[in-house]
Amino acid sequence: MKYNRVLAIETSCDDTSAAVVEADGYVLSSIAASQDQEHQAFGGIVPEIASRNHSYHLLPVIDKALQKAQKTWDDIDAIAVTSQPGLIGSLMVGVVTAKTLAMAKKKTLIGVNHLEGHLMAPFLKDENFQPPKDFDYPFVGLAVSGGHTSLYYCRALGDYQILGSTVDDAAGEAFDKFAKMAGLGYPGGVKVDQFSKEGDPKAYDFPRALMQKKLRNFNFSFSGLKTQGQLRLQKMSDEEKKKEIHNLCASYQEAIVDALLAKLDWAVIDHFLKDNKTPRAILTGGVSANSRLREKAEEWARRKKVQLVVPPLRYCTDNAAMIGIVGLMRLNQGESSDIRLGVSPKSTILEQACSS
Ligand code: KG4
Ligand code: ZN
Repeated sequence: MKYNRVLAIETSCDDTSAAVVEADGYVLSSIAASQDQEHQAFGGIVPEIASRNHSYHLLPVIDKALQKAQKTWDDIDAIAVTSQPGLIGSLMVGVVTAKTLAMAKKKTLIGVNHLEGHLMAPFLKDENFQPPKDFDYPFVGLAVSGGHTSLYYCRALGDYQILGSTVDDAAGEAFDKFAKMAGLGYPGGVKVDQFSKEGDPKAYDFPRALMQKKLRNFNFSFSGLKTQGQLRLQKMSDEEKKKEIHNLCASYQEAIVDALLAKLDWAVIDHFLKDNKTPRAILTGGVSANSRLREKAEEWARRKKVQLVVPPLRYCTDNAAMIGIVGLMRLNQGESSDIRLGVSPKSTILEQACSS
């Protein structure tokens, strides 16, 4: 059977989202209910609050996705749902809802890996966005968000080589923690980005870890940077902090951006440029919303003649459309999940698919 259209559900972290996606990657609707306000008072995501909010928002969000797509359950061939990795309680709300709907509406079910969703996001399209027509595998994929920072070489759907990932904090976490320490609020990445716009990225010398080119270590580490950020802030009076906040944010942000782009560059050199192949890369995950990262990545791609695809923000941050496209790709390869589909905080599906 050919699957033409799925309803997709994503609840792995703190965004409740549902989407209707077609087999060619066209997104008919993508709806999300953000929980930022609920978690703001705690300066980070509280797992139990996230689960409770998912159970409150999910069914209305699914209804809205169907309505916006102007489709009914009769038009839906299958249900795709994020089953890993993520917060267990959050994942469970999505998976149990998907299973129940699959049984009640007699639809095929498929569990999807969230990280694979981020990697396939560049293949999504809608009335305002379309990836370049010649964009295809293989490509180097950098997925950067609040929960993950990983670099992959993607040969085909399900054929990924993991080149490196963070050994401690994710890049988004490093942004959020600095923002919290500096009293900028939550979620912090976007605040650091905003303050940086009027700051000097060279004002403070923050560390970039694991950067010895010869060693070709593709992992990332942000805990040393975070400690240096904290020490720097502790040494300053409130008045000094206020005066220097733009420079502090710009310098801290620059350290993260430099570390991310250095590894992306090495990966492209090793996998494409050494063999004179057309280099392709993608940047995805919530941190790819960062304006400095986008600006420097685009400048790098122009200089190195890399075909770089950065999906629009709505498909970079957590969203159900990216889960829908992976679901369809896998369903049309003959895969599906049964009613015993479980959840996992870890990325076991991708670990199996990844050769290192
Ligand atoms: O992909 P995402 O929406 O959720 C996760 O899977 O984590 O990413 C959220 C992360 C947060 O850490 C947030 O601070 C960060 O992305 N982020 C940013 C920006 N916008 C969101 N980080 C830096 N600059 C931004 N403009
Ligand atoms: Zn994510």
